[in-house]
This record gives sequence, C-alpha cells and structure tokens, in this order.
Amino acid sequence: MKKLWGGRFTKSAEEWVDEFGASISFDQELVMEDIEGSVAHVSMLSKTGIITEDEAEKIKAGLQQLKAKAEKDELTYSVKLEDIHLNLESHLTELTGTVGGKLHTARSRNDQVATDMHLYLRKQVEQIVELIQEMQEELIIQAENNVETIMPGYTHLQRAQPISFGHHLMAYFWMLERDKERFTESLKRINVSPLGAGALAGTTFPIDREYTSELLGFEGIYENSLDAVSDRDFILEYLSSSSILMMHLSRLSEEFILWSSQEFQFIELDDSFATGSSIMPQKKNPDMAELIRGKTGRVYGNLMGLLTVLKGLPLAYNKDMQEDKEGMFDTVKTVTGSLKIFAGMIRTMKVKTGQMEKATKNDFSNATELADYLSDKGIPFREAHEIVGKLVLVCVRKGCFLGDLPLEDFKDAHPLFEEDIYEVLDPYTAVKRRNSAGGTGFKQVSIAIEKAKEYIVGNKEFANK
Ligand code: ARG
Repeated sequence: MKKLWGGRFTKSAEEWVDEFGASISFDQELVMEDIEGSVAHVSMLSKTGIITEDEAEKIKAGLQQLKAKAEKDELTYSVKLEDIHLNLESHLTELTGTVGGKLHTARSRNDQVATDMHLYLRKQVEQIVELIQEMQEELIIQAENNVETIMPGYTHLQRAQPISFGHHLMAYFWMLERDKERFTESLKRINVSPLGAGALAGTTFPIDREYTSELLGFEGIYENSLDAVSDRDFILEYLSSSSILMMHLSRLSEEFILWSSQEFQFIELDDSFATGSSIMPQKKNPDMAELIRGKTGRVYGNLMGLLTVLKGLPLAYNKDMQEDKEGMFDTVKTVTGSLKIFAGMIRTMKVKTGQMEKATKNDFSNATELADYLSDKGIPFREAHEIVGKLVLVCVRKGCFLGDLPLEDFKDAHPLFEEDIYEVLDPYTAVKRRNSAGGTGFKQVSIAIEKAKEYIVGNKEFANK
C-alpha cells in the first residue's frame, strides 16, 4: 500500500516494523474527535479562502459519511496506514477523490493528534465529574440512613473512639469533592486549542486559529506553536488527578474488604459485587473492592510511565509521544469503571448496625469520655488521663470493661466521679456529645450532610452549563 508520506522513501519497511510503529490498534479510539477536528479545520480553510467553498463542502460530506460509518463501527483500518489520522484521510480520498487530499492543507498530524486528545479528554473528564457525583450521592444516601449508627472509630487500626458510621462515609464524600474540584479545574487547561500550530512552527497559509478554536468549543488557543504540539501536561494532570482519586477509592476498598470480613462483620456486600470460591463453599469474596484496590496500581503506573516518556524529550514532537495514549485510555476505562462499581456497591451494601454497635461496647474506646468528664470538673486533662489509665488497669485485672465497674471503684480513683458516669460511658452518648464543628456528633453529621447536598446541586448546575 502506498504510504501518504512515501515521496522521500525508497524502500518499504518490513511489515513488523510497520506494526511496531503503528498506533492504529489503539488510537482508533479517537475516531470521532479526529473527524470533529477535521470538520472544523476544513470550515476554516474555506472561510479564509485557502480552499473553495465547493471543495470544503465535498470534503465535509465525505467526513460526514465517515462519521456515519464510524458510528456503526463499519470503518476498517490498516496497520500500513499507521494511525487514525492517515487511515481516515485515506478513506476520505477514496470517497471524494483528489479533493480529499486538500484536507491536510495547513495542518500536520502533530497539531491534529494534540487536538484530538484535547477533545477526547474534555469529554472524558466531564463524564468522570458526573460519575464522581453519582458516587457522592450514594454516599450521602447511606450516610443519611446511618447518622445514628455508631461504630468504633480507629487510629492505628486500633479502636480509638466511637463515631457515627454516617460520619465515616461522609469523610469519603469530601475526598471525592476535592477530586471533582481537581478534575473540573483541570478542564481549563484541557480546553485549549493546539490546532493551527502545524508541525511545530505554524504555517505560511493565512489560517484563522481563533475560528477553529471557537468551532471546537475551546476557550482559547495555545500561544506558542512549539508548546502546542509538544505539551502533554494536560494528560499528566489527568493521570495525576486520577491517581489521587484511585488512591481514595483504594482506601475505601480496603475498608470495605475489612468490614465485610468475618472479623469485623460491619457490612455485607451485595452478591452482585462478590464472588464465591471454586473450592471453599462458604466463601464470599469482595472481589470488586479488591480489584479496584489493585487497579489503583496500574493508574499510578500510567502516570509514572508518561512522566518518564516525556522527561528527556527535546522540542517539539517526537515519536515517543505516541506512547501517551494507551495509558490515558486505560486510565479512563479504569477510573470510570471503578466509579460505577463503587456507586453500586455503596447503594446495595447491607449495613450491619447491630454488629457495629456491639463493637463499640466491648472495648475501652470510651476511656476518653471518662477523662473528659474529670477535666470538665476542673481536673487538668493530663491528671485525668492518668486516673483513667489506672481505672483501665483495674478493669484489665478484673477482666471487665469500664462500664462494668461499680461506682466505688470510680470513687476510689477520684471522688469527683458520680452516678452519671454510666451515661457518659455509653458509646451512643459519647458520639452524640462530640458536637464540635466537623465532629461526629449526630447534629454535626446532619449539618454536614445538608452542606454536602448543596455542593452536589451547585455542581450539577455547573455541569449542565
Ligand atoms: N500517531 C502519532 C501519535 O500518536 C500521530 C502524530 C505523528 N506525527 C509524526 N510526525 N509522525 O503521536
């Protein structure tokens, strides 16, 4: 097959070399964006008189035909034609005859591929923002149902103080809120047009870059042609926002895995997100959560990969940059899949409130309450801490918990202890009383949920704009 840039070459490359160099196996993902960019480019070529209106119409009609075929998945691609750009151009020329050859006037594949990826990521990031929001909505619903569900809160994975399960879930809401902010904010750097930068230096044709930028819905154009074709910051930023998001999902995965274990029994994941074992009949494995935790690794890998690809590249385009795509596509697939799965897992999980509550009872996580009780009565907190520490020791010796001790034991430790300590020791009361701003007190959790809802509404309006 004749190469479109074949003029300067005498020998044809071996087939496997073609294959090694080709990107068509993966960059066909950009087919719609490539056509969209070409339509805008050709409109500009005729507006500026670089080609005639009649020529532009013929090319556009051809591009529309290609689009229709692509929508039906009827386009065929050849490795010999290297990438999506050359494949489409070749199809166009077949359809329109020689006029198709005018499409590439005042353009290079370098500004073309950059344009495609800007268009592609804009669409994907907008979708990811929506998916994050859907997961946030599920978190809110579960949190609302569990404001007064109490569970042990942990530090060092040791029971620390009792908290509201709703409060715990809402911690993830705010992580996701920051993720959403990061993605949304990055849109302003994605939404810039490289089209018209040419191969690297601009062009001698009287093109109108503002016009193509406007047609493609970009907010402005790259100021420097070299930067326009060699910038991949917007992909790196996407990969790094994705890495942080996946890290959050991975942490929640880890909690889901722990919570659904026999040891915790705090939640039960729906059957649709778990699998059995081929040998052990009793097993119900939290596969999806494990997979999301695992897939976090490949997203980090994609970020590291691209950072490494770019670090030594001189300006402007180098073929190395073709390596920017697979990691990006893979990350899009991983992130969107993980978000969808998580929304479903949260929606369908069964919260075992009784188990959670039970876990707050049989331990010393109410010891802080006792220390706070004394310091409320004027004892310096350090001293109170010491006194309660000794009481814990008494319990350990007796083989019981703080709430089981008779009042005399408390009185022996300090005369300021009164009958009301039993109520203070109750984990439910302990949670309820933590009413400082952002704390786990039920009232605070409800306030936070209401605030969170406003963020969702606010962002929905933003997304629909
Ligand atoms: N397939 C190429 C890529 O993805 C398109 C740009 C090719 N440009 C070039 N000068 N060879 O990077």
